[in-house]
Amino acid sequence: MARSELNTNRSTVTLHVVSSLDGFIARHDNSVSWMDISGEVYERGVSEAGAEEVVSAIDCYVLGSRTYEHALELGWPYADTPTIVVTSRELPSTRTSVEFYSGDLKQLVDERLAPRFGNIWLVGGAMLCQSFLRLGLVDEIRLAVMPVLLGDGLRLFANSSIETRWRLKDVVAYKTGFVELSYGRESGS
Ligand SMILES: NC(=O)c1ccc[n+]([C@@H]2O[C@H](COP(=O)([O-])OP(=O)(O)OC[C@H]3O[C@@H](n4cnc5c(N)ncnc54)[C@H](OP(=O)(O)O)[C@@H]3O)[C@@H](O)[C@H]2O)c1
Repeated sequence: MARSELNTNRSTVTLHVVSSLDGFIARHDNSVSWMDISGEVYERGVSEAGAEEVVSAIDCYVLGSRTYEHALELGWPYADTPTIVVTSRELPSTRTSVEFYSGDLKQLVDERLAPRFGNIWLVGGAMLCQSFLRLGLVDEIRLAVMPVLLGDGLRLFANSSIETRWRLKDVVAYKTGFVELSYGRESGS
């Protein structure tokens, strides 16, 4: 049974990642310059001005520990929004908004997150997203596709293993040349 059928609290888990055209979400060396695009290459696209509104509606972020460590290196992008880091290790606590979690991911969502948060954003990385997808814990997928072929790197959907159907909810093309695809889980899948 899909999570949304059980979800009486009406919380939503949205998997949101930035992908290359060929399906990679990170280079092996972790460099992120491939995500930098600017200028106006697509006249009919929209500007990124509405992004702040989307971010302010996010109630909590969920990160795998490698994504967490990388975010600390890059400069924390999640401000004071509650952030749950999934890890089996004892990691040093860096901010009061960060909680660590180890254990069953379905329990994490149903018992710890859904009662507290409505708009839950699963940030990545690939390993944690694949676990969430395998367990049917994702309600929406928002994929920002960058106009670049990386050729190699970390694949988002490498080991998701099971077939699930998704319904296209929205497509937004930006002036800078990236496209955001939004999908909702098909009921029953
Ligand atoms: N393009 C994007 O939008 C985007 C988004 C996010 C991340 N990234 C990139 O992706 C890379 C990291 O991704 P990744 O796939 O290597 O790692 P990840 O998913 O961020 O983290 C994996 C780690 O999370 C913990 N973990 C995952 N599932 C768990 C579970 N079920 N139970 C307990 N712990 C679990 C484990 O940590 P422990 O070993 O600590 O137990 C595991 O080693 C980074 O380069 C990051 O910058 C890109």
